[in-house]
Amino acid sequence: MKVLIVGSGGREHAIAWKLAQSPKIKKLYAAPGNGGMTELCECVDIAVDDLQGLKTFAKENAVDLTVVGPELPLVLGLSDVFAKENLAVFGPNRACARFEGSKAFTKEFLKRHGIPTAGYKEYTDPDTLKKDVGLFGYPMVLKADGLAAGKGVLITENKEDSLKAIDRLMLSGEFGEASETIVVEEFLTGREASLLCFVDGHTILPMESAQDYKRALDGDLGLNTGGMGTYSPNLLMKDDKLCQTIEETILTPIVEGFKADGLNYKGILFIGLMIDKGVPKVLEFNVRLGDPETQSVLPRLETDLLDIMEACIEERLKDVALQWSEQKTVSVVMASGGYPDAYQKGKEITGTDQVEEAIVFHAGTKRVGDQLVTDGGRVLCVTAKADDFAQAQRTVYRELKKINFDQAFYRKDIADIAVEEE
Ligand code: AMP
Ligand code: GLY
Repeated sequence: MKVLIVGSGGREHAIAWKLAQSPKIKKLYAAPGNGGMTELCECVDIAVDDLQGLKTFAKENAVDLTVVGPELPLVLGLSDVFAKENLAVFGPNRACARFEGSKAFTKEFLKRHGIPTAGYKEYTDPDTLKKDVGLFGYPMVLKADGLAAGKGVLITENKEDSLKAIDRLMLSGEFGEASETIVVEEFLTGREASLLCFVDGHTILPMESAQDYKRALDGDLGLNTGGMGTYSPNLLMKDDKLCQTIEETILTPIVEGFKADGLNYKGILFIGLMIDKGVPKVLEFNVRLGDPETQSVLPRLETDLLDIMEACIEERLKDVALQWSEQKTVSVVMASGGYPDAYQKGKEITGTDQVEEAIVFHAGTKRVGDQLVTDGGRVLCVTAKADDFAQAQRTVYRELKKINFDQAFYRKDIADIAVEEE
């Protein structure tokens, strides 16, 4: 089969790496891909939001399946455009992608179907919102409704900061249309877990869990990022009773809710959970795989990923049993100095070819002649796999030392808690 992967991050490199192991793959394309994906894929220079360009490429090259990495093309309706041409695509349609395109849409769905989540209220008028400041007490959680590249959630500690946050969200123009509606939520405490699931419209099949580290610096300090590291499995999920509660109170009502609402959801559903004293609540939905969760989860998947994707499309997921390695993974993101604020690009990267005991997934990299250079904030994600977390963590940090570029930084505490608890 010929498969086109849409996207250019570490997640897409991990998808390519896993798909390349399938005996059914004859050719992989990536649009636009990155400096590492060139080893596995023919990279074509088409942007992820160029739906017509992607469609034309898929038709002209007789692509059998298109796998969509990021949310933007899904929210724009890539799956609908492809379906009209009878082109197979893995990723939810536009109606279903609203779960990521609108936080208010997700909250309404969760409420309607009695799925546990933080209490909330929606606002479109800044003055009304200012009158309600502190509605659920402090910290106050304010979320831009639309896509905001992970920056649309503001958590404030007092009235003064909340009023400033409201001005920033609703009056500064910083978030464009994304913050025309604001969702205010009750602040939840507990521990977060990311649950990535395959969905075929009838069946929801969770993958092994992962824990993401969202803050830029050690000790969960610094700004929120797309994710600076992950480990898998999330040890919280060792608790069978918790898994059963998630199944009964979250997963089953989600698929039933999809059906009741006439949503034909096919692809990945990423459920962000907050778990407090054994009680799970939904923080958010994403309609695609997580980055860097994917780089920790796919290396543990033993089942052929292409088979699972085909089963989703053909609504045969109930017959699929996922096989997982018992081994643990630790993934650490190497970022450009300054990320997630401004950073420089074009720095030469050396040493990736010296890494022997870990997988180097590329994200913000490109090849210029025979040089590999930085081309984004999150540059690389290195994953090590071992029998226990301690060994996986030691390996990943040893291998990372071999890689260099000017102003590189990474967190030194990824998976510390897993090492302590195992
Ligand atoms: P979201 O994009 O909605 O997942 O929010 C990004 C991050 O903000 C989450 O991963 C949490 O760390 C935090 N967050 C979001 N909603 C809440 C909430 N209701 N209570 C506490 N923290 C939250
Ligand atoms: N790592 C979180 C995300 O992909 O949204």
